[in-house]
Amino acid sequence: MSRTGSTIRTATPAAAAPLDVQRVRRDFPILAQSVHGKPLVYLDSAATSHKPQCVIDAVSRVYSEFNSNVHRGVHALSQRATDAYEAARGKVRDFINAADSAEVIFVRGTTEAINLAASSFARPRVKAGDEILITHMEHHSNIVPWQLLCEQTGAALRVAPIDDRGQLILEEWERLLSDRTKLVGVTYVSNALGTVNPVARMIRLAHERGVPVLIDGAQATPHIPIDVQALGCDFFAFSGHKTYGPTGIGVLYGRREHLEAMPPYQGGGDMISSVTFARTTYNDLPYKFEAGTPNIADAIGLGAAIDYLRGLGMDRVAAHEADVLAYGQARLAETPGIRPVGTADHKAGVLSFAMEGIHAHDVGTILDLEGIAIRTGHHCAQPVMERFGVPATARASLGVYNSREDIDALIAALGRVAEVFK
Ligand code: ALA
Repeated sequence: MSRTGSTIRTATPAAAAPLDVQRVRRDFPILAQSVHGKPLVYLDSAATSHKPQCVIDAVSRVYSEFNSNVHRGVHALSQRATDAYEAARGKVRDFINAADSAEVIFVRGTTEAINLAASSFARPRVKAGDEILITHMEHHSNIVPWQLLCEQTGAALRVAPIDDRGQLILEEWERLLSDRTKLVGVTYVSNALGTVNPVARMIRLAHERGVPVLIDGAQATPHIPIDVQALGCDFFAFSGHKTYGPTGIGVLYGRREHLEAMPPYQGGGDMISSVTFARTTYNDLPYKFEAGTPNIADAIGLGAAIDYLRGLGMDRVAAHEADVLAYGQARLAETPGIRPVGTADHKAGVLSFAMEGIHAHDVGTILDLEGIAIRTGHHCAQPVMERFGVPATARASLGVYNSREDIDALIAALGRVAEVFK
């Protein structure tokens, strides 16, 4: 995996010992099973990652030891729940190096985070004739919210092209950045291609023109140390479940001045300061954006996942995955009948490919019988499929628990797929 230079935070010394993947695997109980009589080889972490025992235990402890509502009770359990929930927010703050915990909003996931920014930040600022600039490699969750915004406001969506290797054509993107651009949305790492975008540079260029930038970090946080202050982004969205945490919890980071100026996204309990029928005043950050009872247990689970990753060291995680990814790329390149989709210089976590004359779903089904889990389909990125002229790809995606042996198993099983369709 490649990284984008000066913006990358160093979590551990570069000389730290390599990751002991066998030891890591033992932290993930789900991996120790057979599927269709074969040892499970899980290569679908871009869809969702597995959870280490410490995350499972953290969520379980909430319900068995101190389940209560947060910010509402004077009783001991409520205070414990509140402390643990707010401690998790602090862990997220540290993990992405936000300046302040108040800039960390808990949401359901990346999708809700982007919808929140589109509704509360962009909607009041955007009018007919304005433009939102994205790229051709976005996930649907970083396309459709902007399309909805454009339908509501008369603004236009501009899409920067990508080249045949799945890399953003930066000059074209820069050409599309104009006085009309009111927001840039870009994925840090493409879920369908694995491309790592030069987001630090893009943020600098956008800011030179006064344009705010939202980063979809869903596929970046499991693989790359994140520093939102060094990046300088206005918003950063990510999901807990791709970062070894639970489903149903995610984060929108926003710069304080933006969040202060934005109206609430949803109304309800906890987001208010006072309510009368004549007028409601809103709570301070971050609570203004957390209406209703939040997902307490899973936020705490995300905090445990962050502790786990930081314990491993994000630099070691990145170095380990870079090795497995490079090995996978090399093995796929020498496998007959395979067309890699997405061969950018800078990649993280994803090996997408098409198999000559065989539909991706057939590839996935046969691999499943071999105990190998990959994702097949359009990966919620239909424009990427259209760009590469395929209806679907097979996608092997990596987590911290994958090894070169998993790649060997994949390549051997692809040989069997080829045999079946000979
Ligand atoms: N966005 C997830 C994926 O890429 C679901 O598979």
